[in-house]
Amino acid sequence: MEPITRRVEEITLRRWEDFLSSLSKRFGPLSGKVVFEGIPDVSLRDVGGLRSAKREVESLVLSLRRPDLYRRWGTKPIKGVLFYGPPATGKTLLAKALAREAGAIFFHLRMRGIALKWSMETGDLFQELFTAIRGNEGVVLYLDELEALAFERTFGPEEARGTSRRAINALLESLEGLDAHERAMVLASTSQPDAVDPALIGPGRFDRLIEVPLPDGEEKQEILEIQQRKAEALAGRPLFKALDYDAITARTAKMSGGDLHEIVQRTLEEKARLEGSAHDPGLVETHDLLRVIEEYRKIKEVVEKIRYGQYL
Ligand SMILES: Nc1ncnc2c1ncn2[C@@H]1O[C@H](COP(=O)(O)OP(=O)(O)OP(=O)(O)O)[C@@H](O)[C@H]1O
Ligand SMILES: [Mg+2]
Repeated sequence: MEPITRRVEEITLRRWEDFLSSLSKRFGPLSGKVVFEGIPDVSLRDVGGLRSAKREVESLVLSLRRPDLYRRWGTKPIKGVLFYGPPATGKTLLAKALAREAGAIFFHLRMRGIALKWSMETGDLFQELFTAIRGNEGVVLYLDELEALAFERTFGPEEARGTSRRAINALLESLEGLDAHERAMVLASTSQPDAVDPALIGPGRFDRLIEVPLPDGEEKQEILEIQQRKAEALAGRPLFKALDYDAITARTAKMSGGDLHEIVQRTLEEKARLEGSAHDPGLVETHDLLRVIEEYRKIKEVVEKIRYGQYL
């Protein structure tokens, strides 16, 4: 990066950190609910598979970079986008890559429990954030687990339902109030699209829906290759032998990119442990991964049974 660009970026970062600290003075600790990440270090090259979602993200990059082009053609740039699909398929990854490719900074907002935490003030918090992102600087607001807003409305205690409704209204007002020429975009994600409040979807709201599905065989290979490339870059040396991807994908039915990531990490941890106990671990081979996959499948089943209540 050019030194001047880096200096500009440092000033920008400091200004946003000041903003966040003023926010926490007013709203109390933001602890894990509002996280500022600067310009993310994830690019579209780090996202495997998801060809159609990536194509859409590319066009959104342009919308965020050059909203003026849309005005020139008598239309409006996209402001609200919803990524939907099973857990750990790369929704957050795509959102971050979009911000990076557009040179935009990234605010990660976790919606779960947000209306309970801030009660009546949740709407004010949204308004503050939206006011702050106005201007000519590229900003992405990422609302994770969007369904949580509606979920609390439906099943939460009475008070939470009211505040959730108010939070949704404030969010919609802010979203509709975003000017077409501003370099700001609101991305949201959900793994339970049927639980998202219908009021949030529609023109001027979250009007671009992007599916982020589980990977097929070829896409799994791409994701595994990305995980390998990253581990090898970190280690600064080759770590893997040529792998038999057909054998691996045959044993990973219904698994997500997140599962594959976990499997590669566990395999590498095992190698580190072997080396620690004075064994020669050798490079990672197909059979190492297959062994970890079998263990992982058992754990994943238990976790899913607990999560989805199949023990009941
Ligand atoms: N398509 C993919 N390409 C590369 N890596 C992936 C992909 N999908 C998932 N991963 C890996 O899994 C991790 C989790 O993915 P991510 O957080 O983007 O999933 P998500 O869809 O946002 O999940 P959730 O619904 O739980 O929020 C990533 O950090 C990455 O390591
Ligand atoms: Mg996520």
